Amino acid sequence: MIPFLDLKAQYSQIKPEIDAAVARVVSSGHFVLGPEVTAFEERFANYCRTTACRAVNSGTSALHLALLAAGVGSGDEVITVSMTFVATTAAILYSGARPVFVDVDPVTWTMDPSLIEAAITPRTKAILPVHLHGLMADMDPIMAIARRHGLVVIEDAAQAHGAEYRGRRAGSIGDLGCFSFYPGKNLGAFGEGGAVVTDRPEFARRVSLLRDWGQEAKYDHVIAGYNYRMDEIQSAVLNVKLDYIEHWTDARRSLAERYNALLSGLPFARPQPPQYARHVYHVYAVRSERRDDALNRLRDAGIGAGIHYPVPVHLQRAYAELGYRAGDLPVTEMLANDFLSLPIYPELPPERTAEVVGILRSAALRPSADISTRSEHPQSFMTWSHNRRAS
Ligand SMILES: Cc1ncc(COP(=O)(O)O)c(C=O)c1O
Repeated sequence: MIPFLDLKAQYSQIKPEIDAAVARVVSSGHFVLGPEVTAFEERFANYCRTTACRAVNSGTSALHLALLAAGVGSGDEVITVSMTFVATTAAILYSGARPVFVDVDPVTWTMDPSLIEAAITPRTKAILPVHLHGLMADMDPIMAIARRHGLVVIEDAAQAHGAEYRGRRAGSIGDLGCFSFYPGKNLGAFGEGGAVVTDRPEFARRVSLLRDWGQEAKYDHVIAGYNYRMDEIQSAVLNVKLDYIEHWTDARRSLAERYNALLSGLPFARPQPPQYARHVYHVYAVRSERRDDALNRLRDAGIGAGIHYPVPVHLQRAYAELGYRAGDLPVTEMLANDFLSLPIYPELPPERTAEVVGILRSAALRPSADISTRSEHPQSFMTWSHNRRAS
């Protein structure tokens, strides 16, 4: 048995501190937007190397409010990707804007900057790249295009706490950055949570107002807002966990290195973070045409594995009205067919990665005639994707 992630193992390592922090909140009688939230906001802004952080009740709320704070609304278009969790798209729709999908790069699996300019129209207001699996999108060209066209950039950093791009932290490069603290995230609360980080005081002020019913003072509602406030208990938990995030990230990165070494020579394409990146491995995904077989074998062996994500957002029934069809985003669709996420969490004993890869090796040894006519070799698989993009 190797679970996909083990939140109980994490709790057991920090139980005394967490229990004390929760007890402190309970006995304080202050449960929403209090001193724990304020302390967390200051510390998380520092961690992201931004001047401001506003904590909210989920990553989805963070995206929604970042869009509204940036002035995105009805009739606007937001350029984003479809290889993401649906929340990215949902938040754009909540704001009244329309998501416009561009394909992802076949090597980084994040927004392909070379496709952005063709997607810009007079209605485009923002670009919303997603730092998928903990690897930051190629931010320099994205920012250059945004500045050239007067567009806002909002980073979806829900999976990328502490990730870096040329030494700069996730959330600190765009105009606003959005995080999720859903329990399974690299920095996870004991329930829902999220945050917006920014260097722009006017954006921080708008998020403060919008998350708390648009109140400037009690019962003085200056704009129409929402109840998106963060709980004190969640902030208290996050304040404890923030002390461990770097240590946990190092553990994830060394597990990824182990997987990389063990998978060498097997027909599973490994993540290829570019030079610019500090990948934080919220997800460690490989690619294989034998994905379904490998997934079944892992599950049969009691190993938690998953697919992030099996159906891209543009092909989800819920978003059919956006008018996309199969074939519109070929790289995204290819990844959805090939992705396989392996267990990775800081408490995973490093030697157990060999058990996971042992199962993948058995899948690799299966005769391949019935699988596909495509090449079995991961490198030519990648080349195939590049050629396809060039054509
Ligand atoms: C890429 C991405 N964006 C947004 C979200 C939404 O965050 P939450 O679940 O906290 O609302 C998530 C997390 O689930 C995510 O993975």
